[in-house]
Amino acid sequence: MTQHSPARSQAQWAPTSWKSKPDAQAIAYDARALDAACARLRELPPLVTSWEIERLKRQLAEAQQGKRFLVQGGDCAETLADCRSPVIANKLKILLQMSLVMIQEGKRPVVRVGRFAGQYAKPRSKPTELRDGVELPSYFGDLVNRPEFTESARRADPENLIVAYSHAAMTLNFIRSLSGGGFADVHHPEFWELSFFRGAGMSDALRAEYERTTTQLAAALKFMEALGENTLEELTRVEFFTSHEGLSLPYESAQTRQVPRRHGWYDLTTHFPWIGERTRALDGAHIEFFRGIENPVGVKLGPTVGADQVLRLIDALNPENEPGKLALVTRMGARKVSDVLPDLVEAVKKAGRLVLWVCDPMHGNTQAAPSGLKTRDFDHILREVELTFDVHEGCGTSLGGVHFEMTGEDVTECIGGAAGITVDDLDKNYASACDPRLNYRQALEVGFRIARRLGKHAIPSRT
Ligand code: PEP
Ligand code: CO
Repeated sequence: MTQHSPARSQAQWAPTSWKSKPDAQAIAYDARALDAACARLRELPPLVTSWEIERLKRQLAEAQQGKRFLVQGGDCAETLADCRSPVIANKLKILLQMSLVMIQEGKRPVVRVGRFAGQYAKPRSKPTELRDGVELPSYFGDLVNRPEFTESARRADPENLIVAYSHAAMTLNFIRSLSGGGFADVHHPEFWELSFFRGAGMSDALRAEYERTTTQLAAALKFMEALGENTLEELTRVEFFTSHEGLSLPYESAQTRQVPRRHGWYDLTTHFPWIGERTRALDGAHIEFFRGIENPVGVKLGPTVGADQVLRLIDALNPENEPGKLALVTRMGARKVSDVLPDLVEAVKKAGRLVLWVCDPMHGNTQAAPSGLKTRDFDHILREVELTFDVHEGCGTSLGGVHFEMTGEDVTECIGGAAGITVDDLDKNYASACDPRLNYRQALEVGFRIARRLGKHAIPSRT
């Protein structure tokens, strides 16, 4: 059965119709070289399938109803250099561990979505960067150029689209083999440990709590299996979906296809692309592109957005009110969320529109450390999630998921948490190619705190 939206397939839309609209983050490419790279990308096999996309959409529809919880996370900017087995395995492990905690404490199944296998393009506030009187294009992510401050590194080379596609394919290949090969078998929680899980920096309390949770989970699984509980498979299926910001429209549109026996067009670079805060203009190229595809789509909403705009975004991106189709990812900042979010939630509720409310507590809480490094405070991150739960509970709606920038590595990018990272520690291992990420311990800690809250977050009776 295909979820078919006539509005999407009949409106004047084509995978390239975005080209007639303004792109707020357009890249100055050599047109001939770009055409050649896109022609090649159109021929290469897709990275994901329409079956997986439709399956994810069904799971997101359940999350919309409060019956499931989305756990989405990964790097701010994935890099080609980090396409290495231990780094990828650690990303999966932290996502898996966080999600298990959510199942156990939050008492509902999860849907796991990584910011990986394609999170290579970054929006920038300025198109150029000035250093010591030299002005060069900004670094727009490995999909576009390179971070070194030289003219050749910063030149936008369309060949990078193919190189990034290949690295996304290698990443996904490894993820698929790991998750299909028992790596994530929930019956063996001892496998989920990160190599430094027993390391010195891990607080005893947090480790004990995690071990208690996983032991309980394993016991509960055995019990349910013994009972022949038929929801077991559904509860424990370890699946990872992919997501990235659909910033580069040449890249996305070259992999957007029609699929046999299905209606409409699928963006096959990823299961779940999102539109960033800087590219969600209603008359812009990104809304034009994303309104035409069948994938579930996320859209980031910062504190300046109005209820009217949100309703118009919903009209554009999900005119048919299809369940599981649209996620509104709010990233207001801990200080503003209580003021700004209730009006948006009420307006969407009043209009009877189906959306998945997701909290990104990272992008509204970025601050500069005295050294100039970008950082985020663990307490602000946690507070934004908690205040977002409060808003939804006040409105009688459901917070359906969380979206984090995090890594399975022991980096020092965000301050706070039980590990007690301070601004003086930031340069010890600051490895992000863009925004500061929660490290492994901070991610697990935030996971526990949120999961406990989720356990008390009622499933609204009205869906
Ligand atoms: C991001 O998710 O890395 C990002 C740039 O977010 P936003 O568009 O919300 O600023
Ligand atoms: Co970011």
